[in-house]
Amino acid sequence: MKTYSTHTSLSIAEKVVLITGAYGLIGQTIAYAFLQQGAYVILADLDECKRNKLEDKISKTFPPRQFLFQTLDITDEASCQKAMIEIILKFGRLDVLINNAGLDAKFDKESLGKVNHGRFENYPTHLLRIAIEVNLTGTILITQSACHQMIKQKSGNIINVASTYSVVAPNQNLYDYGDGKQNFKPVDYVASKSFIPNFTRYLATFYSREGIRCNAIVPHGIYNNHDEPFLENFARLSPLGRMCNREELIGPFTFLASDASSYMTGSLLTVDGGWTAW
Ligand SMILES: NC(=O)c1ccc[n+]([C@@H]2O[C@H](COP(=O)([O-])OP(=O)(O)OC[C@H]3O[C@@H](n4cnc5c(N)ncnc54)[C@H](O)[C@@H]3O)[C@@H](O)[C@H]2O)c1
Repeated sequence: MKTYSTHTSLSIAEKVVLITGAYGLIGQTIAYAFLQQGAYVILADLDECKRNKLEDKISKTFPPRQFLFQTLDITDEASCQKAMIEIILKFGRLDVLINNAGLDAKFDKESLGKVNHGRFENYPTHLLRIAIEVNLTGTILITQSACHQMIKQKSGNIINVASTYSVVAPNQNLYDYGDGKQNFKPVDYVASKSFIPNFTRYLATFYSREGIRCNAIVPHGIYNNHDEPFLENFARLSPLGRMCNREELIGPFTFLASDASSYMTGSLLTVDGGWTAW
């Protein structure tokens, strides 16, 4: 009987991977899946409240030598530098940085009511400044810290988490449930995430001769207990007719983190169910 195996270049075993925003929806999924594949994972996030439950789950499944939990604020330079020192002390190197931390005005049941979904002309500028501080400035700060180390190593792999709203405008019909209270995807998210594709190209070309590559992943609409009217709108507007299951991001992230993508730099890997195809 023939035996088949996965191509070895797709392996991420023993790669040291820093995931920012690791206690959130996508961060948790990728962290867990990477640990299952034998990577050393640093789970870094600002939100201490979400940490205990996740730490408990991961400690019961994986040996302590394989992971590190870190309190990290990507908007704080000292916090970014401290994170890198701890990573090098424990693992001796950093192979992959996943810039996943971000602020996003979401439409799932948990987030509705907590965020401002108002019209553009009324959008509060202080919220815009907060989003820019995290999604843009913070992403740059943690990347600078990681690059210092990657330059020393002469190797590194940066994966930026973009969004379809980094490349196209939101279709505001998605947020109209026919109840006379139209919601809007706010400008703070679009403004602060639009920089990711060109930042990706900037880093890719800046470091192309120093062994560091950089690509971005472009997800759209990860299912997280959304209301029925939202799901109906989504199904109508999406070519694949549904939201993305969080597990469907594991393959694309693994590919970008692995040597299977070694000839890719400056690219956007779109995982959007065809949202940007029409
Ligand atoms: N969920 C989606 O449908 C979707 C779609 C496209 C793109 N994205 C992008 O994916 C990424 C993750 O999204 P998510 O859905 O998991 O969001 P999430 O809100 O569930 O998680 C984001 C995490 O980032 C952390 N964070 C926020 N500010 C931080 C800071 N200053 N320092 C460190 N950590 C900080 C939060 O505490 C949170 O745990 C974001 O960049 C988002 O823009 C998400």
